[in-house]
Amino acid sequence: MNLLGILMEAVASQSMDTIKTALIRLLRAAWIAGILPLLIASLPSPRLNPFHSLLQAYAKRGKIMPSSSNRFTVPQSFFLHFYLLGLVWTTTLLMGIWYFAYKVAPLGSEPLSFVSQLTGGSHVFFLHKSRFTTAEARFNVWKSVFLLLLMEIHVLRRLYETRHVFNYSSSARMHIVGYLTGIYYYTAAPLSLCTFCALEAFNFAADQVVEFKVEGQEMLSITDFDLWGYVKPITGLGRCQWAGASIFAWGWFHQFCCHAILGSLRERGDRTAEYIIPRGDWFEVVSSPHYLAEMIIYAGLLVASGGTDITIWLLLGFVVANLAFSAAETHRWYLQKFEDYPRNRWAILPFVY
Ligand SMILES: NC(=O)c1ccc[n+]([C@@H]2O[C@H](COP(=O)([O-])OP(=O)(O)OC[C@H]3O[C@@H](n4cnc5c(N)ncnc54)[C@H](OP(=O)(O)O)[C@@H]3O)[C@@H](O)[C@H]2O)c1
Repeated sequence: MNLLGILMEAVASQSMDTIKTALIRLLRAAWIAGILPLLIASLPSPRLNPFHSLLQAYAKRGKIMPSSSNRFTVPQSFFLHFYLLGLVWTTTLLMGIWYFAYKVAPLGSEPLSFVSQLTGGSHVFFLHKSRFTTAEARFNVWKSVFLLLLMEIHVLRRLYETRHVFNYSSSARMHIVGYLTGIYYYTAAPLSLCTFCALEAFNFAADQVVEFKVEGQEMLSITDFDLWGYVKPITGLGRCQWAGASIFAWGWFHQFCCHAILGSLRERGDRTAEYIIPRGDWFEVVSSPHYLAEMIIYAGLLVASGGTDITIWLLLGFVVANLAFSAAETHRWYLQKFEDYPRNRWAILPFVY
């Protein structure tokens, strides 16, 4: 590679860093903008009641939204759109970053030799590998793959449940603001899990497409597909990742059970808005165990990330603030609706709230 090439690489690398910093700042600002109003509205001050009611009007859905308030609402069954979007977007990110990790960030303890890359390999590989020379950087790329894999498992089940487990009543609605928040959420959440290398992976994919157009079919060979090469680095991730995956699996399993209980409260295909006191699994302890399980799922993702990325902390912060807010309303609704509602149930967090 000549001097001009190295200079161009330096300029491209700097503008990539600028875009990356802007993207990370934007994501963090958006999570904070979501968390703050929920926190303020939850403060126990009568002066904040109007603000609390306003936020409630946007956040309410299903049984806690009065059927008279149908303006600016969409069916609650539109939750399906969130998971369709979540699945397509998470799969795109996962495939792109997994391929990038395999090609550019092989795992091993030793740093990649920069000199050997100057003398060998294609121009595209040199440009991309030069950004991931340390073992730590390459480990972080594979960690992003792992987090996206967990997210994929989560959205896949949610998509299935929305179609085949829940029996949404025909009158269940959500506010359009809540709907747009959900659309934003499933765009920003998967991205927040992989800001470390998402831009580089997309840049790499774009370069690969260009190279493919030049070299054509010669680049493709099914016999070259190295399945173990794609999987092995994941098996070699650290304790943090596996501890996080275990927490994730714990929340994932209980959310599955609680959703199955909610789905079983009505006959399949019954779309009437009949409500019953749910019983079994974590419902014996809290009113919204499916929300609690969601918090545990994201806490698992945070642990699996190693806990060093503020964006993922803020993502968890938003999930906790949003679902705690909804859980408080749900708990109040159950207590008002059913005289025989078990008084020993907490709203969402056993022995705390
Ligand atoms: N990550 C996030 O920020 C976030 C945000 C929102 C939701 N979520 C997750 O999405 C999942 C679904 O949330 P959601 O708010 O839609 O749940 P939900 O309001 O509890 O409703 C889920 C389904 O169960 C039915 N249902 C609820 N309580 C019932 C009862 N007592 N009797 C009979 N049927 C009942 C609902 O009926 P209706 O059709 O009549 O309402 C609906 O079909 C949750 O696990 C939650 O954690 C995550």
